Amino acid sequence: MSRQLFVTTALPYANGNFHIGHIMEYIQADIWVRFQRMQGHKVDFVCADDTHGAPIMIAAEKAGITPQQFVANIAAGRKPYLDGFHIAFDNWHSTDAPENHELARQIYRNLRDIPESKGGSLIERRTIEQFFDSEKNMFLPDRFIKGECPKCHAKDQYGDNCEVCGAVYAPTDLINPFSALSGAKPALKSSEHFFFKLSDPRCVAFLEKWTQDGKLQPEVANKVKEWFTVRTNPDGTTSEGLGDWDISRDAPYFGIEIPDAPGKYFYVWLDAPVGYLASLKNLLDTRGESYDAYMAHDKLEQYHFIGKDIVTFHTLFWPAMLHFSGRKTPNNVFVHGFLTVNNGEKMSKSRGTGLDPLKYLSLGMNPEWLRYYLAAKLSARNEDIDFNAEDFMLRVNSDLIGKFVNIASRAAGFLTNRFEGKLTHAFDTQGATLLHTLREAADGIAENYEGREYGKATREVMLLADKVNSYVDQHKPWDLAKDAANNEALHQVCSVLINCFAVIARYLAPVLPELARSVEQFTDSNMQDWHLTNRDVIHIQPYQHLMQRVTPEQLEALFEPPAVLEEKVTPGGEEIAATIGIDDFAKVDLRIAQIVNCEAVEGSVKLLRLTLDVGEGKTRNVFSGIASMYKPDDLIGKLTVMVANLAPRKMKFGVSEGMVLAASHADEKTELGIYILTPWPGATPGMRIS
Ligand code: MSP
Ligand code: ZN
Repeated sequence: MSRQLFVTTALPYANGNFHIGHIMEYIQADIWVRFQRMQGHKVDFVCADDTHGAPIMIAAEKAGITPQQFVANIAAGRKPYLDGFHIAFDNWHSTDAPENHELARQIYRNLRDIPESKGGSLIERRTIEQFFDSEKNMFLPDRFIKGECPKCHAKDQYGDNCEVCGAVYAPTDLINPFSALSGAKPALKSSEHFFFKLSDPRCVAFLEKWTQDGKLQPEVANKVKEWFTVRTNPDGTTSEGLGDWDISRDAPYFGIEIPDAPGKYFYVWLDAPVGYLASLKNLLDTRGESYDAYMAHDKLEQYHFIGKDIVTFHTLFWPAMLHFSGRKTPNNVFVHGFLTVNNGEKMSKSRGTGLDPLKYLSLGMNPEWLRYYLAAKLSARNEDIDFNAEDFMLRVNSDLIGKFVNIASRAAGFLTNRFEGKLTHAFDTQGATLLHTLREAADGIAENYEGREYGKATREVMLLADKVNSYVDQHKPWDLAKDAANNEALHQVCSVLINCFAVIARYLAPVLPELARSVEQFTDSNMQDWHLTNRDVIHIQPYQHLMQRVTPEQLEALFEPPAVLEEKVTPGGEEIAATIGIDDFAKVDLRIAQIVNCEAVEGSVKLLRLTLDVGEGKTRNVFSGIASMYKPDDLIGKLTVMVANLAPRKMKFGVSEGMVLAASHADEKTELGIYILTPWPGATPGMRIS
């Protein structure tokens, strides 16, 4: 019976290009989709960019463009990766598209408006306190609050955990917290937030059933089970059972505005999975099909391929959102582990490391090598897998080329040159048995694809190839060809080989779609239909190379660090400024100043307030961004240099009447620090510097 499948991969954040981890996920799903289509099932396979949230909003601001423009730029770069690795999504959409705004708001309204007769609303408003950056005028997400770790006192740690000692805490536990955006000291401010009441007994009962009914991978179901009993709070303590889910964020936020709540937006993880449906709806619209009818079809099966880091969202929040808004829930969520490269660290989520997918393609490396290699390593479990360069070369060259492709290259020439490319069906007994064995394996291999046991599937196929190769070694077509008396035997052996090759090519077609297309032309037979495995090949076209070997040079080039461009020498990280005349310099009045007083500035982690004497019979008030380097007490009484004729500047904390000279690297992130200047002994306040 033909099935109707709706399949997605996780929606990648639109904050950067794909890395090899994304490509792995897409390849895993793409193989499954192609396999299903070969079975005659109907599949709609979609994805989209996950566009919303504070990090993207802030990145866009830094780049000086709107968030819409920012995510459009990212979207424009997707195609070469997807085409390059033969990942055949039916649609690529965006969570900022109108369909998503509409669907997210609809789902929210459905959850909010559940009638009392059915247990009442699952949305609740609650006032909470959060850190607020008064310079940026926004509430700060945890990762934009930094400060000193309350446990090990490491400086510059994030608001939720310490990268030095691993402690987990709430942003409010940080010592001397500051905003990573403005440097300002954040203050607690209260605000009304919207919560999805996951702790409601209706949700708990539904989710316990949904997650524990046997559909999920056992290791995933077990992990999820723990969340029903204990949960870790932001401050590292634990509570019992599912907690309510905070689904709102205050403006400014790049996201979808909550209905009837101006200035309140859905937290990005609320509208992100809705993007699955939005992308599907967009696809159906372009086809002129009805989304509602599609979703209402009771035969419809829905599957999400995701990584192990986003299981909570997909096994708790998402099914609950769907179910209680009166929608169909996914049939399953397929969780994979992480890909590492050459035993490297887990890739950074945004940057990835090690293996640049576009570089791989630009070196002329065959995308199907990677597809095959990953398939050979993938299983239905959510284990991490490693891309290892030597292992990669070995598997591709010895399995794919040595065992599989060579079968065709050994037999094709004889058939073309001596038998006009025509195959015989009068196989020798051994050959007939061999071909039968290969064809018998179809169901077992199909089962492995269906269960995402691609490693098992490819192993099984390679065992079949081994059998074919020992048949070759036994019958040695190259020896048979030496004596015309063996013509019939040669014809039989080569015909068996081409048929075996076609069977194997079909088994590998979900993994190697391009190769399957070439084999389709070469053997003049349909490779897109799993059920044609029993059909004999009748004739072949002249053989053309189907696949090259991987070379060590390619791998070396792939992992060679990017060539360092000839860099301009930039002292201190900055080019020397344009030439000026002495008159220009004379305009700047530099004076020796004595720091008669110095104190911290309340509300700023960056600034110190200096009271300076430049011999004028009065003092001046000057703010300087050197608090990270000097304690006020250490500066009092010291001499330094100031710009004495700089126009006074009104700042948040008062008027600054000049500027103290200080040295720093142009790139503040180098952490090289900032240093004020001191004259040699003998200089006195008021002396001019020239
Ligand atoms: N935007 C969210 C997902 C929203 S789904 C409604 C997100 N984006 S992501 O870009 O960080 O990750 C997208 C997918 O790539 C996730 O499934 C994630 O697990 C997967 N991977 C990210 N790094 C990976 C590896 N190193 N290896 C394999 N998969 C990896 O999370
Ligand atoms: Zn620490």
